[in-house]
Amino acid sequence: MCKLIINGGRRLCGEIPVQGSKNAALPILAAALLTDEECIIHNCPDITDVAAAIEILRQLGAEAELEANTVIVCARNICSDKIPKSLMGKMRSSVMFLGAILARCGTASVYSPGGCNLGDRPIDIHLRSLRKLGVRIVRSGDGIVCCADEPVSGDVTMLYPSVGATENIMLLCAGCGRGVRVYNAAREPEIVDLQNFLNFMGADICGAGTELIRINPSGNMHGCEYTIMPDRVAAATYACGAAICGGRVRLLGAEAEHMRIMLAALESAGCDVLKDEGAVTVAMEGRPRAIEMIKTLPYPGFPTDMQPLLGAVLTVADGDSEIRETIFSRRFGYTCGLAALGADMRADGCSLKIRGRQTLTGADVTAPDLRGGAALALGGLAAHGITRIGGVCHIDRGYERIEESFAALGADIMRCGD
Ligand code: EPU
Repeated sequence: MCKLIINGGRRLCGEIPVQGSKNAALPILAAALLTDEECIIHNCPDITDVAAAIEILRQLGAEAELEANTVIVCARNICSDKIPKSLMGKMRSSVMFLGAILARCGTASVYSPGGCNLGDRPIDIHLRSLRKLGVRIVRSGDGIVCCADEPVSGDVTMLYPSVGATENIMLLCAGCGRGVRVYNAAREPEIVDLQNFLNFMGADICGAGTELIRINPSGNMHGCEYTIMPDRVAAATYACGAAICGGRVRLLGAEAEHMRIMLAALESAGCDVLKDEGAVTVAMEGRPRAIEMIKTLPYPGFPTDMQPLLGAVLTVADGDSEIRETIFSRRFGYTCGLAALGADMRADGCSLKIRGRQTLTGADVTAPDLRGGAALALGGLAAHGITRIGGVCHIDRGYERIEESFAALGADIMRCGD
């Protein structure tokens, strides 16, 4: 079984490029279904979630190939409107194909999606929004069959600004909409990236990044060439590496605006943050300071995906910190692994109390999910001695060879086994 082996305790210094964004790439790959022309998508991260998205595209009859971080998709010969249960189970974003398949075929047959186990992850907001737009939906067990008899139109008000549901509606309506407004839409930067890609394809969408998105009727969608935005969570992971190990890390291509609250939290923990043209640098001398309280919120609030990363940094802070998780009910799974390294963390409902320790000590741990796995890697990098991390497949879902990035910053880390 594959493990990451870390000999911790080294400072991290140097510069690395930031990979393309996973959470932007996945809906953009689904969007390529909306045209029978070729889409050339650059800066696509080489991660297993992208491999799963390519597998779904091929299953539907599209040609899709990833080479040197460029995916070329041609969905000319779509031969199916179904995603098998096994592929749906591989990741949460498989549900994003629902809107795109519906737009392309008029019908779609999918299952409840898989993904990290972060608590209940229903898709009621997706389905309610689609129904509101006139889509007929029949559920039997975990199978979902949808039918859009005619172009969709109307207004949708989401009870919660779900990222995936916002993207699903955009995909459906860009492909077969007669004019749709989405109120209380999610405002994440990845939604803006999807809007930009769809507009490059010929859609007429505005408002992404605000709570009202207008998807205006447009002509035929066509192929395009596009470069995916940098991954703000991966960038935050390496920034937290500097914070927990000490040192100076320059993140080439990182977009400071997308990481505003995380960078403010790191500054509050004692890091120096420098934003210059095309890069963000995070430097730390000595031990991090505690952060009294931080709460996860939809963008532009503190991102839930960065919560485990900051949680790891605060395990070695000078003082007591508290994190409140408001998005997912089970996102403290990583605390068991950090506790095995000697961290003092107590999770109670949505609150996590952390008493900073001077040092952590290496141990054998298992990644519980993607970002939780990255948090354990951060703990291992700061700990004295050897940490072995199992469950690396979770980390590989979202990080492009995480060990190579940390090694390029001077960490003693390697991958063993397959
Ligand atoms: N929710 C519902 N019903 C729905 C949809 C969502 O109750 O129909 C709840 C979820 O259970 C959750 C909350 O609303 O409690 C947020 O869910 P949202 O739909 O906004 O998230 P998502 O689309 O499933 C994306 C990212 C996640 C990220 C969240 C929140 C992708 C592929 N995934 O998930 O990323 O945590 O937004 O920002 O974009 C990750 O990268 O590690 C990751 C989990």
